[in-house]
Amino acid sequence: MNRPVLALVASAAGGVERWLVDDLARPLAARGWRLAITLTPTAARWLEPHLAALAGTTDLPVRWTSRLPTEPKPHPVPDAFAFAPATANSLAKLALGIGDNQALTVLCEGLGSRAPVVVMPQLSADQAAHPAFEGHLNVLTSAGVALAADPRAVVRELERVGPPAPFRKNGDNTP
Ligand SMILES: Cc1cc2nc3c(=O)[nH]c(=O)nc-3n(C[C@H](O)[C@H](O)[C@H](O)COP(=O)(O)O)c2cc1C
Repeated sequence: MNRPVLALVASAAGGVERWLVDDLARPLAARGWRLAITLTPTAARWLEPHLAALAGTTDLPVRWTSRLPTEPKPHPVPDAFAFAPATANSLAKLALGIGDNQALTVLCEGLGSRAPVVVMPQLSADQAAHPAFEGHLNVLTSAGVALAADPRAVVRELERVGPPAPFRKNGDNTP
């Protein structure tokens, strides 16, 4: 049986290096998701000591750089998207459609594809008080994005909005 593919994208919010593997990647993999993990460049730097553990949650490569045009796509087309944690910076870029790194490229395409997207924002009070922030959140929620407060809520939301295994649009398991 083909497992549904989840694009799991993480950005550089404080603590991500402590909880991403144990509190999010492993529980999601245990629930049957095949993880296509992409990190922002800063998150990749922070998670460097944990990259082997992160890679151990999936058979797909963990990405943070773009491929060359001559290289095949390292990840299959995802059935759903989880963006956790979402920094103020990357959340704003997603709302505006800015794909200036591989993580944002994945997310912007995901939002456009209308597949289920779950976002877990993590911002300081001052970041959340930025005058553009509410507008960015509105863009995302009106596009159908589900918001989650913590990693457990991300897992729960994905169970609610995620694709029923085993069939969805992923090329190799389309009936
Ligand atoms: C220790 C530390 C903790 C941070 N925590 C947060 C955070 O919780 N939320 C946030 O939006 N930015 C946080 N930042 C700032 C982001 O890391 C910074 O804006 C960075 O450019 C985000 O890059 P990215 O969105 O490409 O991952 C933190 C920075 C540091 C050094």
